[in-house]
Amino acid sequence: MARVVVGVEDPDPDVAGQGIARLRAHGVDVEVGPGSDEVRRSLGPYLHHRRHGRAFCLVKTAVSLDGRVAAADGSTRWITAGEARADAHGLRADSQAVVVGSGTALADRPALTVRHAAVDRQPLRVLLDARGRVAADGPLFDPDLAATLVVTTDRAPRRAVEAWVAAGAKVETVAPGVDGGVDPRAVLELLGARGVLQAMVEGGPTLHAALLRAGLVDRIVAYVAPTFLGPDGWPALAGPGPATLARARRWHLAAVARLGDDVRLDLEPPDGPPDGDA
Ligand SMILES: NC(=O)c1ccc[n+]([C@@H]2O[C@H](COP(=O)([O-])OP(=O)(O)OC[C@H]3O[C@@H](n4cnc5c(N)ncnc54)[C@H](OP(=O)(O)O)[C@@H]3O)[C@@H](O)[C@H]2O)c1
Repeated sequence: MARVVVGVEDPDPDVAGQGIARLRAHGVDVEVGPGSDEVRRSLGPYLHHRRHGRAFCLVKTAVSLDGRVAAADGSTRWITAGEARADAHGLRADSQAVVVGSGTALADRPALTVRHAAVDRQPLRVLLDARGRVAADGPLFDPDLAATLVVTTDRAPRRAVEAWVAAGAKVETVAPGVDGGVDPRAVLELLGARGVLQAMVEGGPTLHAALLRAGLVDRIVAYVAPTFLGPDGWPALAGPGPATLARARRWHLAAVARLGDDVRLDLEPPDGPPDGDA
């Protein structure tokens, strides 16, 4: 008898379970479930998008041994060495959008393009700037490099919006978030509606903290560099942590890799690879 093994059912409402039912109707023995963790891990963004309609949120950060993402003066280039940076470009290449907050855009003037990995199409660059603080110049607004989307609120002055549009960027206005900024869930929904399966967030400590507080982070990749930046460096997360250790959320270490002298930690929510069942 023919036998088919299925890792996970496709949650797309247009197809969900139909293929399996058809196979069974034709006498094929179908087993659903073996290897589902691996399948869910590799298809995480797709499954998440089909179940929730919003983009899967991958947070990437590069930290020192004492958990700092920038030195006291805000400088951050480069905490990690070449191998880790090239690896991070591979993550960008696997994403359809790369997201930063206005703090990172102002401090680093990043290009947010894939440069050290092969890519068919550059991911959409997404700037979250609720108040119109970031000027429409520099590599982020160079349309020859890649497309740019600015997500803002009605607190941004009209001249800032006009300048972004004149520079060739798309602009979307959403509601403000509870912590200030733009509503992070609305951003992931908006990106999902644009067909973004995975949004890679390369923000600073403020944006990462807001996403974690909102429970929107589906995966974290942390590159840990063998250096100390001291107490005046910028901590990985802005804002208050848990009041007591018992309330600290622990992530599951799904993989670890050595990249030169740096280490890459792949972390997923404690319940295993997010597949959108929750
Ligand atoms: N090592 C690393 O991996 C790494 C990566 C990135 C940045 N950095 C460093 O981090 C520093 C910048 O930190 P940062 O915290 O200012 O950067 P950020 O998190 O990228 O930007 C924060 C700003 O983004 C805006 N924003 C819009 N929507 C938001 C939301 N939902 N939640 C939070 N913020 C939102 C807010 O300003 P408005 O309200 O004005 O919009 C907020 O002040 C720089 O020194 C940079 O070099 C390090």
